[in-house]
Amino acid sequence: MCGIIGYIGHKPATPFLVEGLTRLEYRGYDSSGIAVRNGDLEIHKCAGKITDLVSILPKKIEGTSGIAHTRWATHGPPSDVNAHPHCSVDGKIALVHNGIIENARVLRNRLEKEGVKLQSDTDSEALVHLIHREISNGSKPLTAVRRTLKRARGTWGLCVIFEDHDTIICARNGSPLVIGVGDGENWIASDTLPLQARTQQVIRLEDGVLAEVTSEGVKTSRFDGRYSDSNVTTLDEDWGEAELGDYPHFMLKEIYDQPEALRQCLTGRLDLKDGNARLGGLGLTPKQLQKIPHVRLLGCGTALLASQVGRLVIEQLARVPALAHVSSEFRHNDPVIENNALHFAVSQSGETADTLAAIKEIQLKGGEVRGVINVVGSTIARQCGKGCYIHSGPEQAVASTKAFTNMVAALTLFAIQIGRARSLSRTRGKQLVKALKKLPQLVESYLDNPGSIMDAVDALKDAKSVLFLGRGISAPVAREGALKLMEIAYIPCLAYPAGEMKHGPIALLEEGSPVVVVAPNDSLKDKTISSIHECRARGAKIILIHEEGDSIAEEADIAISVPSTDPILSPILTVLPLQLIAYHTALILDRDVDRPRNLAKSVTVE
Ligand code: M6R
Repeated sequence: MCGIIGYIGHKPATPFLVEGLTRLEYRGYDSSGIAVRNGDLEIHKCAGKITDLVSILPKKIEGTSGIAHTRWATHGPPSDVNAHPHCSVDGKIALVHNGIIENARVLRNRLEKEGVKLQSDTDSEALVHLIHREISNGSKPLTAVRRTLKRARGTWGLCVIFEDHDTIICARNGSPLVIGVGDGENWIASDTLPLQARTQQVIRLEDGVLAEVTSEGVKTSRFDGRYSDSNVTTLDEDWGEAELGDYPHFMLKEIYDQPEALRQCLTGRLDLKDGNARLGGLGLTPKQLQKIPHVRLLGCGTALLASQVGRLVIEQLARVPALAHVSSEFRHNDPVIENNALHFAVSQSGETADTLAAIKEIQLKGGEVRGVINVVGSTIARQCGKGCYIHSGPEQAVASTKAFTNMVAALTLFAIQIGRARSLSRTRGKQLVKALKKLPQLVESYLDNPGSIMDAVDALKDAKSVLFLGRGISAPVAREGALKLMEIAYIPCLAYPAGEMKHGPIALLEEGSPVVVVAPNDSLKDKTISSIHECRARGAKIILIHEEGDSIAEEADIAISVPSTDPILSPILTVLPLQLIAYHTALILDRDVDRPRNLAKSVTVE
């Protein structure tokens, strides 16, 4: 949520700032701005996308240090004045901030009483005025920022630049900041994506740490002034720069990345001989796996829905109770944490604030959490310490696709691993391993020939609302289909376990209402057919996702088939048409597919 970029060195800062903003635009895209130290501080900002900012920038901005920001609004609507950087009254200090200042109202009121004219509605602006006051009282930049932050409550990743000092001060508390270390130049960013092309050496700021960045080096210290080691690490996974190639949108590219992403997730983790799977990073021996009383998975959005699939797979294969929790609710319900229970935090970005807060709640109560994460070295990955990476590669589109399939795949690997340590037979383990090995090829063959997607789009594009149904393991898949269509096509969708439909949502159905049904060839299929009949009897139009060759297709108005696999792996295939339906519906409705309104890729505020 909000992206921060900074540069200090010997080259013109603006090209990197703009390029960096573009790489971070997925974190927020309602407004953006830059401040470059060019004699004075030169500030340009506006509402809209990065392209709008670029269109108002002068052709050339001199200046070899600067900071920049792309925003996802929390306090105050997207507008030119609310865009960052925010500036002190004398124009000599500029600040960019990611996070939420919880006591902003108190700070703003005090400043206003003291005669400061605030320009924006944001929580962030108060900070720059407080820093300015400290500087006016003779503080050095680092001390001024430290003293200001002592008065603030909340979360921040922030950068401050000064007209009169050749330094950028950064601080982190709850919102990520990474410093790229170079020779005579240093870069700052909210994540490593903008840094990868410049340097492999990075300092990931810890919570409670400030950094004084000059072209010559980086000095870190804690908020209380104590020394803090600036640990330089080498980027462990270089994804390179995510490029669109021939695809019109990242979402479509990422849908088509799925066969390769799945291969990456499965590679080296399957043992056909023993019918087993190995996620070494979990650090769990078979003995420990036998003693786990229950498994809890935490996530938001698509990660939550992948967790809902995962918990069913774990329960079925390992016969151990497993639950999926909404991260944003978790810590507020004062959960009971059992010592030996196994907790998984599931997240693509590894930066989701709600999930991070849930992890901290568990750790505070003495529990351990393992990450199921895509972004290597992300905050959640580091907070958990142990876990497994899902290896999807960079996911740029706001609508998550390949992360879902890889999260499900990784959790299935875990289900086999814990299952084999308990009661899952070697024979069943071998069946599953074989089926998993075939999966990337099946995904590929479906994507090569995706069936009647455009007929489904035609049936959905003008709908007032769409009902998605599925049973058992397909219920979370139906929810994922609904989430995708809602978030990028802006069509209201409802997703229900098929059997629940008759207890309420059926009242919505009328002649022509579109109902999307996910019905793989599993033991629940006949029950789902009954639900289809109930819908059809009320005039609904059925769009069915089913397994190839299955006569259930006759029950549908529009039938889309996916290849056959072991029923427990079906979510990885049945979700594919739902992703494509959402993509093409959004496209036909002229939506901004990769950057849907009001959303951001990484939600780093609670
Ligand atoms: O990075 P995470 O997996 O933790 O993100 C969780 C959700 O914010 C994310 O899945 C969101 O719901 C997506 N936009 C769904 O497509």
